[in-house]
Amino acid sequence: MPESEIIVRLKDIHKTYMLDKVEVPALKGITTDIYKKRFNVFIGQSGSGKTTLLNIIGCIDTPSRGSIEICGQDVTALSDDELSDFRARHIGFVFQTFNLMPVLCAYENVEYPLLLTKTPASERRDKVLLALEKVGLLDHKDKLPNELSGGQRQRVAIARALVKKPALVLADEPTANLDHKTGKEIIELMQGIQASGETTFIFSTHDRNLVYNSEDLFMIMDGTIL
Ligand SMILES: Nc1ncnc2c1ncn2[C@@H]1O[C@H](COP(=O)(O)OP(=O)(O)OP(=O)(O)O)[C@@H](O)[C@H]1O
Ligand SMILES: [Mg+2]
Repeated sequence: MPESEIIVRLKDIHKTYMLDKVEVPALKGITTDIYKKRFNVFIGQSGSGKTTLLNIIGCIDTPSRGSIEICGQDVTALSDDELSDFRARHIGFVFQTFNLMPVLCAYENVEYPLLLTKTPASERRDKVLLALEKVGLLDHKDKLPNELSGGQRQRVAIARALVKKPALVLADEPTANLDHKTGKEIIELMQGIQASGETTFIFSTHDRNLVYNSEDLFMIMDGTIL
């Protein structure tokens, strides 16, 4: 694989938390490359380090040691302000608990990242409607999160992650609060979007049954990638 196809490059990533003066090693030297335009799956048991690693890749957290390059940029060299700007432009997030804003309807939740990046009003409407269409929710655009099912809420969250066309979408156990069938539908939806677009996905789960057919599997065990 040529280097230009790499979107995330992790070199010797360590993360140690301090808990009551005791060191908790969560990541123990992760070195790996993640390629563009794939549906990457991080699979590992509870406590293996999935969230810690995704938060570091998402520039929400910083490693204790090691370096990380995203889209060719060494993000460990960026200031806090530069890091939030980088995150806003290049990375979309989908969370286990959906994290939608309860007082905003589906349309407004999806529009929100465009307000943060100061996208002109004239462009916003088309982008929001396109993202809602991709997840099959145009008919539900005026509903509040509590008027939607869990699967529909997660679709809104996927549209929100995609609306600014990020290079990278990170989804940390987005199916954990959904039943098996709805979880599978959400994965298939993300895989379909990945296959038809320019976005790289990183998806994490502890459930092997959900992802047996994925080509880009990373097994995480006890803070290392096998
Ligand atoms: N803020 C924190 N302070 C101290 N230890 C932490 C903190 N966050 C995570 N850990 C520890 O780091 C390790 C990895 O945790 P992490 O949350 O990354 O695992 P995970 O694979 O996401 O688990 P799960 O499937 O339950 O979400 C665990 O041993 C956990 O207890
Ligand atoms: Mg986790």
